Amino acid sequence: MIVLGIETSCDETAVAVLDGDEIRSNLLSSQTDLHARFGGVVPELASRAHLVSLNILMAQALDEAGVSYGDLDAIAVTIGPGLIGALLVGVSAAKALAASLDIALIGVNHLEGHVEAAFLERPDLATPLIALIVSGGHTMIARVPRRGRYEILGQTIDDAAGEAFDKIARYIGLGFPGGPEIDRLARSGDPKAYAFPRAKMNDDDLDFSYSGLKTAVIRWIRERQDAGEDIDAADLAASFQEAVVDVQVAKTLRAAEQHGINTIVIAGGVAANSRLRARMRDEGEERGIDVVTPTALLCTDNAAMIAVAGARRLANGERTPLDVSASPNLALA
Ligand code: KG4
Ligand code: ZN
Repeated sequence: MIVLGIETSCDETAVAVLDGDEIRSNLLSSQTDLHARFGGVVPELASRAHLVSLNILMAQALDEAGVSYGDLDAIAVTIGPGLIGALLVGVSAAKALAASLDIALIGVNHLEGHVEAAFLERPDLATPLIALIVSGGHTMIARVPRRGRYEILGQTIDDAAGEAFDKIARYIGLGFPGGPEIDRLARSGDPKAYAFPRAKMNDDDLDFSYSGLKTAVIRWIRERQDAGEDIDAADLAASFQEAVVDVQVAKTLRAAEQHGINTIVIAGGVAANSRLRARMRDEGEERGIDVVTPTALLCTDNAAMIAVAGARRLANGERTPLDVSASPNLALA
């Protein structure tokens, strides 16, 4: 079964070819430079860049995989959530391809794609599992009783985790996206240097909140600056990151414990964070929990994760009608 995956929900144009469990190609045309000077993703620019890149990238992905359009069994495409104009570029291309090749179209939820990245590395991974989904637009903990089924146990009540990383990074003058920059800077810092709040850490629920942390960090920086004190940027990055990671690790482990589940998957762009990956693995291991941390390139947006999610739905006999619409607020259900 050869599936072409297409992902254009935000600022990465991505195309992959998946052959069974094997990733034959997984290409990305990043728009980071395009958006960097605006400090965030500009939706109109994202759509235009997808239009320019997608056809070329599809040809390259097929070429690298050593297959032609006629070899494809299905097209899997992200139908939401995401930016409407950006999603439409991928969805329109996927529909046109599926119709002209007379093959199956599978619409994939972007968040399901993030979770399914775990199965690219561990095809035999068993369910049930607990998924921590942390990206630029979403932050949630889900129980996955079996592949393709999700029960949301908790989520952010304000900002997404990635958004918090990006906002703090921008405030302290780091580049966009801020997550990788903070991760890098934090490696030479002391995570205990400054004590920032761990919002909702001890609440009974499995929800998250980052707006208080963001405000606390910004207020703290201003006070130091007003007092003429030096701030160690690496210590600041490490301390902020630790506050985020502490709550994520605690709540994900608690979810696993509450539901008697001993497999955890971390998913989404923030799951590329080196501190989160290490802490989650170490603390999971102490409790006999199998923690799956897909390689960083499979955590951030990519099309292999869309292809694997589509392939599983296809194997389940599912098909998406060709009149499907892109759905910017699509829920994970
Ligand atoms: O999943 P993703 O690639 O796109 C969305 O679906 O949103 O996630 C992007 C987010 C950005 O906020 C980015 O700063 C964050 O993931 N991110 C990281 C790291 N790499 C990407 N955050 C913390 N540490 C990282 N290493
Ligand atoms: Zn994503």
